[in-house]
Amino acid sequence: MANDTLTVTDNRTGKSYELPIEDGAIRAPDLRQIKTSDDDFGLMSYDPAFLNTASCRSAITYIDGDKGILRYRGYPIEQLAEHGTYLETAYLLVHGELPTAAELEVWTHEITFHTLVHENVKSLMEGFRYDAHPMGMLVSVLGALSTFYPEASQVDNPDVRLAQVYRLIAKVPTIAAWSYRHSRGLPYVYPDNDLGFTADFLAMMFRIGARYEPDPAIVRALEVLFILHADHEQNCSANAMRSIGSSRVDPYSALAGAAAALYGPLHGGANEEVLKMLAEIGDVKEVPAYVERVKAGEFKLMGFGHRVYKNYDPRAKIIKQVADEVFQVTGRNPLLDVALELEKIALEDEYFVSRKLYPNVDFYSGIIYQALGLPVAMFPVMFAIPRTAGWLAQWLELVEDPEQKIARPRQLYTGAGERDYMPITRRETVADLVGAV
Ligand code: ACO
Repeated sequence: MANDTLTVTDNRTGKSYELPIEDGAIRAPDLRQIKTSDDDFGLMSYDPAFLNTASCRSAITYIDGDKGILRYRGYPIEQLAEHGTYLETAYLLVHGELPTAAELEVWTHEITFHTLVHENVKSLMEGFRYDAHPMGMLVSVLGALSTFYPEASQVDNPDVRLAQVYRLIAKVPTIAAWSYRHSRGLPYVYPDNDLGFTADFLAMMFRIGARYEPDPAIVRALEVLFILHADHEQNCSANAMRSIGSSRVDPYSALAGAAAALYGPLHGGANEEVLKMLAEIGDVKEVPAYVERVKAGEFKLMGFGHRVYKNYDPRAKIIKQVADEVFQVTGRNPLLDVALELEKIALEDEYFVSRKLYPNVDFYSGIIYQALGLPVAMFPVMFAIPRTAGWLAQWLELVEDPEQKIARPRQLYTGAGERDYMPITRRETVADLVGAV
């Protein structure tokens, strides 16, 4: 449309510029023509933490944060969680369409037969300290995997890329389970190709002796948790995956970086923090006092708030139902009562209402993981397993996107102007400089 433009007047010069608007956005490089003189670099946009900057075009995940909508490739998360499986969802994210029966059979076969890792990976993992954090182990081993598959550096070859997609989706649960076994001093359990993706993961985690029969209700609950965590568009770790991948490094190295980003307490580490918080509160009657301390700015309410959702996180709604199903098998986690009370009080409180702070996906997931017998240190690892499919889908989209280049943000320089090198004997300490003022 002819009027799909933005007219900007630079009040420093009085000049006006017409910038095209495409898909609700202007292109930041179009601002560069706005200059005060010929040698001016041109106007930049300043956007720490990408609050209002689209870094890519993406056809994978759609979120409407105000309405609480999440869709993978157009399919509502509620429908995928109710009817889908994790492997089907992973296929959808990676290939863009739900698989036919024949396609799913091939996909499942390829992933199942790549679950084993090289024996040297086992030796590598055995080298960690007895109490190593499983997420630190996962991040390290993911990086190390690039040394086992050097051909993965051929990122421009679609067949090579797909082979690494199979390997990563398949091997991350094995490494995840082994990192748990290691932290418990238990022998590592090899994958069992006769089991499905989720049941196999549970077996590698919990099998002692010859047989392990996971409860079908637990398998299904975990499957739903995996579906809910599979992707979430341009979050911190997806952005890390894309940023690292933009250097055309192999996907193992990029995925190690994405997992490292997920480890942080403001991202995938939040479910661990939620559990610590609920344990610290300890009792329902302590909730009001805790909420007051949050409002006084002493700390944040973990599992609450989201950069994008300014409405109830649709995943949190589904997880609440999953929690009920899990507790029917495992017995009720006593921390659930503390969580429910916290949610009730926070949702009625002006502080949280005015800031549009609602429970996010991590508020209830930790309580479920704990009921499954997982230590809190495993929670971010449980997030990384399904998110591997999302990271890979984001990476594939990036490497195939002709508009993308190596990620390289600009900065607003705030340091010293040019000055001359000072011999060490003539340098003043900061204390001298402060004293001299
Ligand atoms: N508890 C209390 N106050 C909060 C919380 C919270 N959890 N989250 C945000 N606020 C307040 C902020 O202090 C700020 O208040 P102010 O306007 O008075 O200064 C206001 O709400 C806006 O918050 P921002 O920090 O600007 O929100 P932002 O989008 O930067 O942060 C984030 C989002 C990081 C998720 C934040 O809400 C948070 O730290 N939550 C707790 C950690 C958490 O649960 N993370 C998991 C996110 S989901 C995921 O990664 C899967």
